[in-house]
Amino acid sequence: MTGPAEVERTRVVVVGGGPAGLLLSHLLHTSGVEHVVLEARTREEIYRTTRAGILEASSVSTLVDAGLDRVLREGDRHDGIALRFDGESHRIDLHGLTGSAVWLYPQTEVFTDLADRAAQHGADVRWQATVTDVLDVRTGRPGVRWTDAEGRERELRCDVLVGADGSHSTCRHSLSEDVRRHYVHQYPYAWFGVIVEAPRSAPELVYTTSEHGFALISQRTETHQRLYFQCDPDEDPARWPDDRVWHELQRRVTGTDGFRLLEGPVTERSVLRFRSSVVEPVRHGRMLLAGDAAHTVPPTGAKGLNLALADVVVLHDVLSRWLSRTGGDDTVLDEYGRRVSDRVWRAQHFSAWMSRMLHSHPGESGFERGRRLAELRTLVASESGRRFLAEGYTGWGPVVTEGAM
Ligand code: PHB
Repeated sequence: MTGPAEVERTRVVVVGGGPAGLLLSHLLHTSGVEHVVLEARTREEIYRTTRAGILEASSVSTLVDAGLDRVLREGDRHDGIALRFDGESHRIDLHGLTGSAVWLYPQTEVFTDLADRAAQHGADVRWQATVTDVLDVRTGRPGVRWTDAEGRERELRCDVLVGADGSHSTCRHSLSEDVRRHYVHQYPYAWFGVIVEAPRSAPELVYTTSEHGFALISQRTETHQRLYFQCDPDEDPARWPDDRVWHELQRRVTGTDGFRLLEGPVTERSVLRFRSSVVEPVRHGRMLLAGDAAHTVPPTGAKGLNLALADVVVLHDVLSRWLSRTGGDDTVLDEYGRRVSDRVWRAQHFSAWMSRMLHSHPGESGFERGRRLAELRTLVASESGRRFLAEGYTGWGPVVTEGAM
């Protein structure tokens, strides 16, 4: 095979133009670091992917500090959530318990803000740019071979390569199994997610568990809402006409307080499989992994996007110091992994804990169900229990600096 026609060079190549890649691009732009973002999909394809909607206060600060403050005007601040079981809702006063809150602001909006900002800055973001090979990460001149929108094969070399290319990460897959540990936990259930055209049924998110399984009542706008219910990972959305969706949701939220969901047409339906995973280490020579490429969480605690943004803030801090260094010591880059690991594992624990507490395992025994409900009752009855949940949900405070650890 002959080599690609064109070899370009830049300082940082960011693989992935989702929120993590675009936030990094923005931060690199503000520190004047030349870089290129390669994204396999089109901007419209990413925009159309429906994702979770909760931002921790530290994520909101990250966006606002980056000059992206639409979240403050158009996002909805939520000071609490409800846990619903035994047919009753129990409010967790996030703000009262922690002094912090969360914002309902869907990931697609975060993406839009960042993509618009990249366009305003004239950032070098190449859409429909598919990375086919990761090159020489153990050398001082790593790079990628990639195919552009016209199908031409090209090559890009850099000082450092960032894999922010999502859970199916080409960057991560380029590493052989013997150099990376990949911890994976699978769950025997998934979420059936719908967008419905209906008014809000509740002012705050309701996480509910019943004998029929888990459901989550989230919100979007005055006219559209986002709802989920636990299903089999192999469930086929085509088997769920509107009335079946509503029957399933209503029976999961029903209770002595008469709570009912306001119904309307289902405009979107899909099955979200979920798993927990962590890759270690996150640095391999001159390649660093961030966001879903490095770890995934089940959506129950809404931690995925928050973790990705926190990764990028730390990564940018470490990279800027490394790029402006005089002597070339690559081990400085290991600071990134050391600083993000604690948050990543806390989020793993929190998401797995919430998932187990709120979902019924297929074939769950009466003992296990009784134990789960007792856990929920103990939790809401205790201020310490509620605070533990609230601290995890609102996200353990700002992204710490190395000196503060
Ligand atoms: C959402 O609104 O899509 C959402 C909210 C909270 C979650 C997951 C998803 O835990």
